[in-house]
Amino acid sequence: MEALPNRLEGKVAIVTGGASGFGESTARLFTKYGAKVVIADVQDDLGVALCNDLVSESGDNVIYVHCDVTQESDVKNAVDTAVSMFVNTFGSFLGAKHAARVMIPAKRGVILFTSSIASVVSGESPHSYTVSKHAVVGLMKNLCVELGQYGIRVNCISPGSVSTPLLTNAMGLEKTAVDDIVCASSVLKEVVPTAEDIAEAAVYLGSDASKFVSGINLVVDGAYSTTNPTYTKIIKQTFEAFGKKT
Ligand SMILES: NC(=O)c1ccc[n+]([C@@H]2O[C@H](COP(=O)([O-])OP(=O)(O)OC[C@H]3O[C@@H](n4cnc5c(N)ncnc54)[C@H](O)[C@@H]3O)[C@@H](O)[C@H]2O)c1
Repeated sequence: MEALPNRLEGKVAIVTGGASGFGESTARLFTKYGAKVVIADVQDDLGVALCNDLVSESGDNVIYVHCDVTQESDVKNAVDTAVSMFVNTFGSFLGAKHAARVMIPAKRGVILFTSSIASVVSGESPHSYTVSKHAVVGLMKNLCVELGQYGIRVNCISPGSVSTPLLTNAMGLEKTAVDDIVCASSVLKEVVPTAEDIAEAAVYLGSDASKFVSGINLVVDGAYSTTNPTYTKIIKQTFEAFGKKT
């Protein structure tokens, strides 16, 4: 695809969880493509370091705010900070209530949630995680209907497994070991998935290239969720046990 250096110029994005993993990559890519970015996270040292790094590369188009997304006052503050710093342009990830509050009068904006492959593949995550990720998709779908009348698009990205700090910490393994596991279980070969791959999807959904796309759960998993190899695997194992050719 042709490079589009300014494809997010004029947009403002609040990236929650923006200090690490998918959020960090998204903040980096959005900045690169000309967006003004508010990094919102609870890891202040990491968030400030990333912000300084991006400011040194791209100028004053990036700020960091401490924001625990479970605290409504923090989310409100993140949105208000973005509005006061970057007036008149909106295009953001953030808590939907406060996003809508500022996007409705502007009659534009993008709300982009992060769900998970657990929203489409069952039995591979704890119940609580799966429930929460299904809920994100449900919220996205309801909101896209409610906010469509104001020109606000609402979408969600569901990543497959990627060796971000979340996954390496959860598995207690080095990044390379997690990458090996992910690649061995992949449908699409010859690609080691990265947080940047998720960020690229976010750029698409945040930009005007997707201006008529609302209400979708974009699964970015190299087709992992399209198949269930269990049956074939069991047949193969059974045939091998009986010395039969598969
Ligand atoms: N890594 C994967 O394989 C994978 C796959 C599917 C979905 N996901 C989802 O993607 C999202 C991001 O995960 P990641 O892999 O980038 O993880 P990560 O741990 O690398 O980054 C998450 C960031 O969110 C921040 N955060 C956590 N709680 C917060 C709060 N209450 N308020 C504000 N910020 C907070 C953390 O400080 C961190 O900087 C999560 O929702 C995760 O469930 C991850």
